[in-house]
Amino acid sequence: MMLDTLEGATIVVTGVTGQVAEPVALALARANHVVGAARFRDQAARDRLEAGGVRCVPIDLVAGDVGGLPADAEYVLNFAVAKSNDWEADLDANVGGLALLAEHHRAARGFLHCSTTAVYKPMGHHVFAEGDPLGDNHAVWPFLRTYSIGKIAAEATARWAARRFGLPTVIARLSVPYGNRGGWPAVHLEMLRNGSAIPVHSDAPSVYHPIHEDDIVAMVPRLLAVAAVPATVVNWGGDEAVSIEDWCGELAALTGLEARFEPTDQTIDSVQIDLTKMHELVGGTTVDWRAGLRRMVEARHPELLRADGDGAA
Ligand SMILES: NC(=O)c1ccc[n+]([C@@H]2O[C@H](COP(=O)([O-])OP(=O)(O)OC[C@H]3O[C@@H](n4cnc5c(N)ncnc54)[C@H](OP(=O)(O)O)[C@@H]3O)[C@@H](O)[C@H]2O)c1
Repeated sequence: MMLDTLEGATIVVTGVTGQVAEPVALALARANHVVGAARFRDQAARDRLEAGGVRCVPIDLVAGDVGGLPADAEYVLNFAVAKSNDWEADLDANVGGLALLAEHHRAARGFLHCSTTAVYKPMGHHVFAEGDPLGDNHAVWPFLRTYSIGKIAAEATARWAARRFGLPTVIARLSVPYGNRGGWPAVHLEMLRNGSAIPVHSDAPSVYHPIHEDDIVAMVPRLLAVAAVPATVVNWGGDEAVSIEDWCGELAALTGLEARFEPTDQTIDSVQIDLTKMHELVGGTTVDWRAGLRRMVEARHPELLRADGDGAA
């Protein structure tokens, strides 16, 4: 992992107990002063972070309480996301809270707002570039009904804050993060374990760009380096387009468990992304998806790995 462009800096990482931010904060804390922010409902994650040298400062983005964070931080990574499914609370946290965070850190040298490819309008097997239409990608998932609209509104807020405060900002639209800390493929691994059928879109295959946490960690400094006014917007995913069908097939081959699929139009559509801009600005990813999945199984369920250890590759 190369963190050569970020050393000795004060970096605020919000959503620090989350799947994506925890490995980033721990990696950055090896060479920087990292302040991790969340409500800290996950005490075990807080313990791991503090053991790794992250200073934990409670914030609450719904209430707009960010005052404990150091206003003189050089960089801010906003990985916080509220998914309570309550429209008012989620808009207050993800949109209003972001505005307050950006205002508090208006003097920062760089602000990374983590967005999602779930901001794109469902369009089947279209390959989405940054200028393509936005829409309510998650409308089919009642348990995440605020997600896409909240994330679109958050992008608008990050764009506004960049101009309003002259705050160099990068909005990175993340595809499917995964690794030892979890992610969608890890959820699918649990489904394979308990024999659940895996929903896939009937317009098969269901294609995304899984990106390993090592690549996320490695790309953060490069993303901060392209923060600008107006905000830079860039897709953020693994170089390889991989379907749910393929990664579950690989998990099945690694473990000997059966992958059963349930095609439906009541699940989210493919979101394949054009990575031209990402490659131009920050380069490509390095972790092969099969190798990354194998490491994920090893870390989370080593007892499941087949003795011969071979995946489908
Ligand atoms: N995971 C994915 O598959 C995926 C895919 C694409 C994009 N993304 C994006 O990646 C980023 C990180 O996602 P994630 O999956 O790592 O999230 P996550 O695991 O759900 O973690 C969310 C984080 O936000 C904090 N948080 C929630 N409500 C808060 C509030 N009111 N005030 C302050 N902090 C709050 C949580 O801690 P507390 O609850 O303790 O406050 C936690 O640290 C998000 O921007 C997400 O949209 C994720």
